[in-house]
Amino acid sequence: MKGIFITFEGPDGCGKSTISNLVYENLKDKYEIVKTREPGGTEISEKIRDLILDVNNSSMTDRTEALLYAASRAQHVEEKIIPAINSGKVVICERFVLSSIAYQGYGRGLGEKDIRMINDFATSGLKPDITFLFDMKGNSSVERKIELGGDRLEISGSEFHKRVNKAYEDLSKKDDYYIIDATKSIDEVLESCLNILKAKLGGIK
Ligand code: TMP
Repeated sequence: MKGIFITFEGPDGCGKSTISNLVYENLKDKYEIVKTREPGGTEISEKIRDLILDVNNSSMTDRTEALLYAASRAQHVEEKIIPAINSGKVVICERFVLSSIAYQGYGRGLGEKDIRMINDFATSGLKPDITFLFDMKGNSSVERKIELGGDRLEISGSEFHKRVNKAYEDLSKKDDYYIIDATKSIDEVLESCLNILKAKLGGIK
């Protein structure tokens, strides 16, 4: 039986990591779960992550950045995600193609169309079965992350992050995703995600 592919998406500091870790803890005794993240998730993809996020790479062009995210994803999909899905596992992934649409498409201004095109190639068209889109209702907390040091993307400036937030706002109007109010308490956000998952995971033993 085929597994299921679940992604968590949203702006920096929206609580995706906390909640996806708690979801994993809640489901791990019942399901075989592969918990992973982007950019990263395999040895090669993590090396690409280091390259992208290194603040010393300040001269990296926007197109290079977009292609590196897609390259990291291509390796991750083929080496880890597809084999896990094909062996019936539940794959929980922090960030996927929507992050590239938000950060590179809107944030860097490369446009949604081209970003979708390079990512279709990178993923061979793989789509998540469930996407949780964490809605911060405009309350970005990237500033806190910057205070803690900030990677190359986090320190890209407030206008960049405004465009990223706008992307998530636009994406949340589509019907394809489960919109989660991330301004609620951790317990409430976790409960919303688990309720949706329990209904969907019924078919997986
Ligand atoms: P993380 O903080 O969620 O680990 O992600 C690292 C940064 O990479 C974060 O600022 C979002 C950014 N990012 C993109 O710009 N495009 C992408 O496709 C992905 C997956 C992440």
